[in-house]
Parts: sequence; structure tokens; C-alpha cells
Amino acid sequence: MTGVFITFEGGDGSGKTTQIELLKSWLEERGHTVVVTREPGGTDLGNELRDIILHRKGFIAPRAEALLYAADRAHHIHTLVAPALERGDVVVQDRYLDSSVAYQGAGRVLDPTEVRDVSLWATENLMPHLTILLDVPADVAKQRQDSDERAYDRLEAEAEDFHQRVRESYQRLADAEPERFVILDGTDSIEEIHHQITQKVATLLS
Ligand code: TMP
Repeated sequence: MTGVFITFEGGDGSGKTTQIELLKSWLEERGHTVVVTREPGGTDLGNELRDIILHRKGFIAPRAEALLYAADRAHHIHTLVAPALERGDVVVQDRYLDSSVAYQGAGRVLDPTEVRDVSLWATENLMPHLTILLDVPADVAKQRQDSDERAYDRLEAEAEDFHQRVRESYQRLADAEPERFVILDGTDSIEEIHHQITQKVATLLS
């Protein structure tokens, strides 16, 4: 594969969407073909799964939830991401398997290694070249979400300790793989965060 695979991670309300749009423009200005995508929901099937996972009323067993995310991921990588990387594009993706380790592993308290292994099986071991983690304290994230008109989805509506476990899990993941991760302070200004991201990406592409 000749392309470059960049993923964004972080809690809900950490500012990933804004930074992804800015990075896309920055890359395109430099002549790169960019595919922006997300999990769950980067494909038609993925959008159906996203609806089920995020908006279905009532309980979904933690292992079923983990498998639904993994099913979305398997289809997404096979049909969209891997072909884009084969073509040599830059794929900028909102969430990937680290989300499953953090949310289903730490959040739902499943074994994080097992959750990761399921995703690795689903994606034939595809790992990002760079993962940008936007770290935001739970109270700041909540304030941002409260000011958003959109209703909370099933995961966002989880209690504060769930989101605290997710945040700590992300920090452990980043500490374990410092060569893949960059952790940025999501409370910095949009411009400052964008600047730090482009510095990292420029190094990656050079
Ligand atoms: P989004 O709103 O950032 O698109 O993400 C949807 C929700 O799904 C978000 O609360 C995080 C959660 N999620 C998981 O729990 N596990 C996963 O593997 C992924 C990709 C997302």
C-alpha cells in the first residue's frame, strides 16, 4: 500500500470534526488526494449499523456492541479504506480501532486486548501511520456537547465515569505506542491545534 492512513481519536466533543476539515483543506492545497471518512458509518452498510448502534432504544449487550463496531470496521476497511490506500490517497478517518479499545474495552469493561484483536482480525491487521488524539477533560467535553443542539446518542449519554475511563484508556494507548500517537490538548485554540497537526503530518509525508 502506498497511501497514508491518519486517524483521529478522542472523547465525544473533543473537536475532531473541525480539525479533520481543516486538515483536509491543508492537504488538498498541497496537492494530495484526500479521503475523509468515519467509523461507524463510512459506508452505506456502516450508516445502517451506526443507526442501530447509536440510536436503537434499549440495551445492547457489550459484546454485541463490540461486534457491531467491528462489523462496520471490516466492511469499511475492505470496501473503502484499503482501496484508497492502494491508490495512494491520504485517508483521514474520524475514529478507528482505538475507539473500540477505549469505549468497549474500558467503557464497557471488556478485555481491551480481546477487543483490539477482534478489530485486527476484522481489518486484516491494518494499522494507521499516525493517530491524533485530542484530549479534553470530561467537563469541557460535556459543556461543548450541551451547547450542541443535537440529542445525545447512546454512547454520549453514558455517565461521567464511563467517559473518564475512556479518556484514561486513550492515554494508556498513546503511552504504549508513542511512535504512532500524538496527544494534543483539545482545549487549545482551533488554530494552535491545527498548526500542531500539520507539523506532524508534514513530517509524516516528507
Ligand atoms: P461519533 O459521534 O464520534 O461519530 O462516534 C459515535 C460514537 O460511537 C461515539 O460515542 C464513540 C462510539 N464508538 C465506540 O464506542 N466504539 C467504536 O469503535 C467507535 C468507532 C465509536
